[in-house]
Amino acid sequence: MTKPFLQIDGKPIPYTAGQTIMEAATAAGIYIPHLCHNPEFEPHGSCKLCTVKVNGRNCSACTFPAADGQDVLNDTAELNELRRTVTQLLFVEGNHLCPSCEKSGNCQLQAAAYFLGMVDAHFPFFYPARELDGSHPDILLDRDRCIFCELCVRASRDVDGKNVFAIGGRGIDSRLIVNSPSGKLADTPIAATDKAARVCPVGAILVKRRGFEVPIGERLYDRHTLAEESLEREEPIVESRHD
Ligand code: SF4
Ligand code: FES
Repeated sequence: MTKPFLQIDGKPIPYTAGQTIMEAATAAGIYIPHLCHNPEFEPHGSCKLCTVKVNGRNCSACTFPAADGQDVLNDTAELNELRRTVTQLLFVEGNHLCPSCEKSGNCQLQAAAYFLGMVDAHFPFFYPARELDGSHPDILLDRDRCIFCELCVRASRDVDGKNVFAIGGRGIDSRLIVNSPSGKLADTPIAATDKAARVCPVGAILVKRRGFEVPIGERLYDRHTLAEESLEREEPIVESRHD
């Protein structure tokens, strides 16, 4: 049976019923910038980096269902400018001091900034005061770098079955909450082998004593763009999910 088609930047893209625009694009090898989306988890739709224009309206590609004949714009100057602004806002809402961060070169936020040609933060830094949690013997939680993508929340709940994390508060007062009586990671069942300890796209959750194992210059996004890495990792996941 032939598949229905949508168009992305004028190119016909087949999709499977039930796929989102992001999934149809990924399966076709088209990169749509994203941060809170990871095809291993249910979409969350919070970061808005994946904003595309669907039949003239801005929508999140990670949550918007693909439909027959849709006219989707993705790689346009206007949308990339919007994504750059979203990325700049994410930078100033946290304390993303890339040169001193162990995740530098492996960080999706940093890689998104490079990919989108962001050359400065544009907005004044908020410098939020956020608590660092070093209580766990194997895992460090540095809330300064959290972008509230909820990947650790979804991983802990849906994969590890532990429900260690939640997001509380709103706007600049948003906080990553640790679900334990003390509020500390040491008092949770999280382990360094858990998905939640390894899924963070930035440097907010780090496994201790593993820092700088891969030297600067040889790290993931030192060698490949975010688009190349994302497609290589995510295409097989999307294809197996919708076989
Ligand atoms: S700690 Fe990392 S994975 Fe969890 S919400 Fe923050 S940025 Fe996302
Ligand atoms: S990737 Fe779609 S809203 Fe974050």
